[in-house]
Amino acid sequence: MRIVLLGAPGAGKGTQCKRIVARYRLLHLSSGDILRTDRAADTELGRKAGSYMDSGALVPDKIIVEMMTEQIKKAADDGFILDGFPRTVNQAEELDKSLASIGRKIDIVLNLKIDDRLVAARMTGRRSCPQCGAVYHIENLKPDVEGVCDNDGAELVQRPDDSPEVVANRLENYHLQTEPVVDYYKNNSTVYDIDANKNADEVSTLIDDLLLTSAPKTENRGPNVSEGSIVNSK
Ligand code: AP5
Repeated sequence: MRIVLLGAPGAGKGTQCKRIVARYRLLHLSSGDILRTDRAADTELGRKAGSYMDSGALVPDKIIVEMMTEQIKKAADDGFILDGFPRTVNQAEELDKSLASIGRKIDIVLNLKIDDRLVAARMTGRRSCPQCGAVYHIENLKPDVEGVCDNDGAELVQRPDDSPEVVANRLENYHLQTEPVVDYYKNNSTVYDIDANKNADEVSTLIDDLLLTSAPKTENRGPNVSEGSIVNSK
């Protein structure tokens, strides 16, 4: 399966992607994670992207498309789930062109729909593990020991772009620049709207039901829940 997961900041894209890849053995390609890794390593890409990310603006399409498309093409035959990309109509068009050049296309678009009023609380309560990338929430998805990752014992951190002011900018940019991507896909692909206001387990169930009924039948990549642990499943 080649899946795009769309949704506003805090809709739960990262949380659900981790569960989907554990279950379906797909490659998880998160543009935000790639950018944060590059920033931590102080690469040229990371330096170029930094000021945009800190203010809640989108990084320019040219930088993002170059960063994502080669990796996506390499993973096209094995299956992938895209998290945070594409985020503009231009990025979606470039992705389609790039996949078409190797005779592939996006199979399914999952659109996580969340009310704006829930976004701020999800973002400001988020805590992440700097070592393994597990994502928690101080109220909704707590670790066993407060402030400590269940997987590796690392101290959990807060993302710098999760401050209320930056979250407001990110949400505004989502409505202006990323919502049109949903319409783009509604004209070109199969799009499923998913109620992301529900708790994380309920959202996972909705996604599983959809993937089980809509996965391309020729792929030999059925669900295998024993293949990996589901992060934050409590
Ligand atoms: P990115 O990292 O992609 O951020 P985002 O899209 O704003 O999404 P988030 O990671 O903040 O939220 P999420 O939906 O993954 O939610 P999560 O699962 O963590 O991008 C960061 C920046 O990079 C951008 O602002 C931009 O500058 C740049 N960038 C990235 N891609 C780009 C692109 N393609 N083009 C241009 N620029 C780009 O959940 C959030 C919290 O809620 C967690 O605490 C979680 O535990 C909790 N939670 C999750 N689900 C639920 C639930 N169902 N109920 C209750 N709590 C829940």
